Amino acid sequence: MAVAQTGCGDAGQVRIAPTDDLDAVRALGVANGLDEGERDDRGLVAAWAARTADGTMVGAIALEGSAGLHVVNWMAVDPAFRGRGLATRLLAALEDEARRRGVRRLWATARAPGFFLANGFAPVDEGPEAAYLLGDCPECPQYGRGCTPRAVTKELHGGQGSVTKDEGAT
Ligand SMILES: CC(C)(COP(=O)(O)OP(=O)(O)OC[C@H]1O[C@@H](n2cnc3c(N)ncnc32)[C@H](O)[C@@H]1OP(=O)(O)O)[C@@H](O)C(=O)NCCC(=O)NCCS
Repeated sequence: MAVAQTGCGDAGQVRIAPTDDLDAVRALGVANGLDEGERDDRGLVAAWAARTADGTMVGAIALEGSAGLHVVNWMAVDPAFRGRGLATRLLAALEDEARRRGVRRLWATARAPGFFLANGFAPVDEGPEAAYLLGDCPECPQYGRGCTPRAVTKELHGGQGSVTKDEGAT
């Protein structure tokens, strides 16, 4: 995987690149309100980190294989770096790599549905995928009280080097 993109913000250059450090990706997500998750059936396909020039991780995202679905997970941006397109760039890097791997559809349990809808995802209201992606959310004390996640999906079209086989999902 090549380095995805570079860019400049008010706090200097933030570089997005693939990372193998899933512990750090998860830690950033948890620090930004995401749940650790109790599912043990997820397999990492690829992850990306957004880092400042001094190497501090200020954003992250992961593509995981879960129950045969390719799931966008662990998307988080440090509050000081929000609103300047970092998550958009992280998602673009993930989508490029997913297309390269021949992935035809992405899924997510969106805690920020507006972000995903603005990025070409559509809500999934019913069916086994929505039930799987939402899991135990409706029983969670936070559900509907500051956290109303939606199952969302996006079809990926073509892309150079794409193959027809949907690889990577566990
Ligand atoms: C959601 C999150 C990753 C967005 O990061 P970000 O770098 O600020 O996002 P971007 O700057 O790329 O935002 C792109 C667009 O999405 C919108 N957006 C961002 N967060 C949003 C949210 N929670 N709800 C609705 N829209 C949102 C922005 O307004 C922006 O739209 P604009 O270009 O029209 O102004 C960040 O707010 C975050 O880490 N939140 C806490 C963790 C979380 O909820 N992660 C999502 C898990 S599904």
